[in-house]
Amino acid sequence: MNSILIKCANRTSIIKGSVTNIRYFTTSSSTTVKKDLVIIGGGPGGYVAGIKAGQLGMSVAVVEKRGKLGGTCSNVGCIPSKALLNATHKYEEAKTRFPSLGIRVDNVDFDLDAIMKYKDKTVNGLTSGVEGLLKKNKVDYLKGHATITGTNTVSVAQLDGTTKTLEAKNIIIATGSEITSLPNVTIDEETIVSSTGALSLRAVPKRLVVIGGGVIGLELGSVWSRLGAQTTVIEFTDRIAAGADGEVAKKFQRILEKQHIKFHLGTKVTAVTKRESGGATVSVQAVGESGLTGELEADVVLVCVGRRPNTDGLGAKELGLGMDKAGRVIIGENFQSSVPSIYAIGDVVRGPMLAHKAEEEGIAVVEHLHNGTGHVNYSAIPSVIYTHPEVAWVGRTEEELEQQGVQYRVGNFPFLANSRAKTNASTEGFVKFLSDATTDRILGVHIVGDCAGEMIAESVLAIEYGASSEDIARTCHAHPTLSEAVKEAAMATYGKPIHM
Ligand code: FAD
Ligand code: NAI
Repeated sequence: MNSILIKCANRTSIIKGSVTNIRYFTTSSSTTVKKDLVIIGGGPGGYVAGIKAGQLGMSVAVVEKRGKLGGTCSNVGCIPSKALLNATHKYEEAKTRFPSLGIRVDNVDFDLDAIMKYKDKTVNGLTSGVEGLLKKNKVDYLKGHATITGTNTVSVAQLDGTTKTLEAKNIIIATGSEITSLPNVTIDEETIVSSTGALSLRAVPKRLVVIGGGVIGLELGSVWSRLGAQTTVIEFTDRIAAGADGEVAKKFQRILEKQHIKFHLGTKVTAVTKRESGGATVSVQAVGESGLTGELEADVVLVCVGRRPNTDGLGAKELGLGMDKAGRVIIGENFQSSVPSIYAIGDVVRGPMLAHKAEEEGIAVVEHLHNGTGHVNYSAIPSVIYTHPEVAWVGRTEEELEQQGVQYRVGNFPFLANSRAKTNASTEGFVKFLSDATTDRILGVHIVGDCAGEMIAESVLAIEYGASSEDIARTCHAHPTLSEAVKEAAMATYGKPIHM
């Protein structure tokens, strides 16, 4: 077939310190297309990298196999889970909290089908929005499974049955992560479900057993508990919310227990056996002091014990790309893999599996390819658990500072002493500051409370700018706002808070 060459770029780019003239051409051939950059995976890492590359004038293609953009995050992660958390929080508020505010609502009820439709509508709106953004930035979007067939070639088995070959100066692997299970526990997405199944249950289970007291377990456990499921979380270690500050995790657990979620910590799941009559039996064994040995009956079992990097059918192993023991693509500085033309970002590489971390890396890797300047500050990546109250943190925990032998000061302030929290009748939680004992530089900020996920942004910026707790304490905060508790906790770190 004849191909018409269209000159689309003739620019100067700095790669690895040397100036290289790059000329690339896009062809109209249905089988081979040449690009500056091919990105595999249309999740937050991949699509953001695509947009940035388009903005910087590169000819770029994003390949995504699920037929929809937005990746795990938009389709079966952040977005659907937050939609369900929002709907169920409102339901619970109307049922249990409105009366104390003087609002009478009789017969508060929910329609699970309608909640699921609202969730799906939110997802579809966002995924098609991402498609619009790619178009706007002149990014080619190919629907299909990509396999790396050479250092600069990618073969795409398109969803329409045809195959396309892409040739690129550089390739970015942004294939994200996948659900995983325990040995001998088979997920059927009906009785034994992953997070994906738990986002679409057709009925509220009477008894839900959650294996894993991490972020997914606590968020989706909250969703179904609010709708009436007797929810029990089995956690292997002696604490929930791995990664959070220890004091925060303890107090957060107590709050969730008040919401009728049960916890068995120091407990290992040894088997999950499906019953013919429906449901499953979960066999557990104590591994810690407070652990449980025995059996638990469940109508639905949610397995959320972490996720695995996704390199299925990618051709990365065949090409000899370096992988670590966990199956992540090993990258050096600037996200470069062991094959110089191939880069990797997001859940498929080291670091926290978070959408905003993947996005930051997407921008940084493209800026690096463009002019060698890309950078991510991994000390200032916030974490948020979107329960009610929310839990949010940035920087180091008290345990980490102790382990590292850092001398630090602590400042705490409870929302019980915050006027806006009182007017909102939502006083659970506190703000905790950790700052350097000598310099007062902020080392970590931890918040349990309503809107913690929004409030943490101030502290992320503070850490990014190398601020001290006094910097935040001397910054005027509007009254009455929840963020005044952040200011007060900052004050408590080097002096005394005013309202306590
Ligand atoms: P992904 O989003 O996984 O995207 C990778 C994409 O690549 C996928 O769409 C996949 O289909 C595609 N792909 C894979 N292989 C190929 C191939 N060979 N060819 C073509 N396409 C391919 N993070 C947060 O920050 N906040 C949250 O609130 C949050 N909530 C979550 C809730 C749940 C239930 C789950 C499961 C995760 C949540 N996460 C959250 C984590 C977040 O979803 C991930 O960190 C994020 O999506 C990672 O982005 P990514 O671009 O690296 O990969
Ligand atoms: P996780 O790593 O947060 O938690 C898994 C938990 O399971 C750990 O506490 C672990 O100790 C426990 N566990 C492991 N094996 C076990 C066993 N055999 N028995 C009992 N417990 C066991 O992983 P999770 O919750 O699956 O989430 C996966 C990823 O998704 C996380 O890395 C997270 O960053 C991301 N995510 C982020 C969200 C957010 O930012 N709000 C929301 C949901 C997911």
